[in-house]
Amino acid sequence: MSFDLVLFGGTGDLAWRKLMPALFQAFRHGTLPKDGRIIGVARDELSDEAYRALIRSRFEEVDLAKRPTPEEFDAFAQRLHFLRMDLSKPDDYQRLAATLQERAAEVVVMYLATAPNLFTVACEQLAAAGLNTPRTRLVLEKPLGVDLASNREINATAQRVLSEQQIFRIDHYLGKPSVQNLFALRFGNTLFEPLWRRENIANIQITIAEDLGVERRGAFYDATGALRDMVQNHALQLLCAIAMEPPINAQADAIRDEKLKVLRSLKPWTPQALGQHVVRGQYTGGVAEGEAARAYREEPGVRPDSTTETFVALRAEIASWRWAGVPFYIRTGKRLAAREAHIVVNFRPTPHAIFDAPAGAANKLVINLQPRDGLQLHLLAQGQVNRRNAQALAPVHLDLDFDRSFGSERVGAYERLLLDVIDGRLNLFVRSDEQEEAWRWVEPIMEHWARDTAGPRPYAAGTWGPSASSTMLARDGFSWSEEG
Ligand code: BG6
Repeated sequence: MSFDLVLFGGTGDLAWRKLMPALFQAFRHGTLPKDGRIIGVARDELSDEAYRALIRSRFEEVDLAKRPTPEEFDAFAQRLHFLRMDLSKPDDYQRLAATLQERAAEVVVMYLATAPNLFTVACEQLAAAGLNTPRTRLVLEKPLGVDLASNREINATAQRVLSEQQIFRIDHYLGKPSVQNLFALRFGNTLFEPLWRRENIANIQITIAEDLGVERRGAFYDATGALRDMVQNHALQLLCAIAMEPPINAQADAIRDEKLKVLRSLKPWTPQALGQHVVRGQYTGGVAEGEAARAYREEPGVRPDSTTETFVALRAEIASWRWAGVPFYIRTGKRLAAREAHIVVNFRPTPHAIFDAPAGAANKLVINLQPRDGLQLHLLAQGQVNRRNAQALAPVHLDLDFDRSFGSERVGAYERLLLDVIDGRLNLFVRSDEQEEAWRWVEPIMEHWARDTAGPRPYAAGTWGPSASSTMLARDGFSWSEEG
């Protein structure tokens, strides 16, 4: 099968940090179809050779295991080409059309890894240049818009020029092996499904913590914030994966229908819930990764009086028979104490205690997404640790490390998703109605913050965020689980 992959934003951060390494991995593993060109598009004036040299130099900053040897890079670089384009200029799309006509590949992927305000114009211009053929697949990077209205506008434009089957909305968390394993755990095994409901589960916690700050993306991040950057997409997709009903099959729409139902059943916000169940924070200086870290407002590209949130914690509820009354806590932020992402399912304690168990002890299932990928099941056992009291229970856990079981060189998120686009598999991509529903749910939070002059709560870099986040759980009698 032959393909042309046109990468708009070809010199941008995402291109060299994630997409090029992912394409290279696929090339190295022999899964990238042999007959394919990767055409980087940007406003820079670069020859193919200069573009290859640029990408080669960027690989120096990529994870060592994913770095090519010089010979490997040379072989990969033959696939790379460059086209200078200004996305607002119709003539430039004609030049793209001419480049693509050179060989009429069976699949043409248009990957928009640009600022979202260019999505609409790019879609319209691609169509005007006749580049919306049945062979075209459009990939849209998140965030898709900045609110419901802009999201709808982008989706409407994309759907005017292409069919929904040709539109691949990326949420790279869905491509992570751990998230696919979550589907496998729930729908490929019988063990947990009967327990997966309000009668047995006390609360569910989703944590996506990063120790890094905003790095070189200060200006983008300052206009975006953690709610739009992480909650509206990644965190809510994880919530869907953990809470959805079993789909009727593993086809894209069967999975998306069930995820959509979860998003539709999220309890709407009330003024009281907005006051008590959402915490926003912003990091001040502190210590991160063992070094002094500057405050968010001192980061390059960030406004010195910025009120953009770098941390969000919230409490959601799903109004359904399965989940009524079970709190789902979500927390995400930059410059937190560690880089770890996990979902913790806290089961209810035994209804009647006949043993001496540590206070608050109960079963829990920890689904680790990163840095390691695995599962931990926490049980209580008589470890005889207390020699005087044979009735005393101690916590113990079953530990499944998927990196150890299956090797840590598994297909990475972007590698999986890029191959899926080329192969035309939509399972791990987000449908427009899911996105709209997620925006609809987060919008009242954005509106509440716009009215709330108190601004985000400060937290020191290298901590777990503002204390109000723990207070929110304490009000329900719970606490955050720090396991990773
Ligand atoms: C991106 C966000 O979508 O996800 C970034 O824009 C964030 O701000 C990144 O750092 C986290 O992804 P991962 O895979 O490193 O957890």
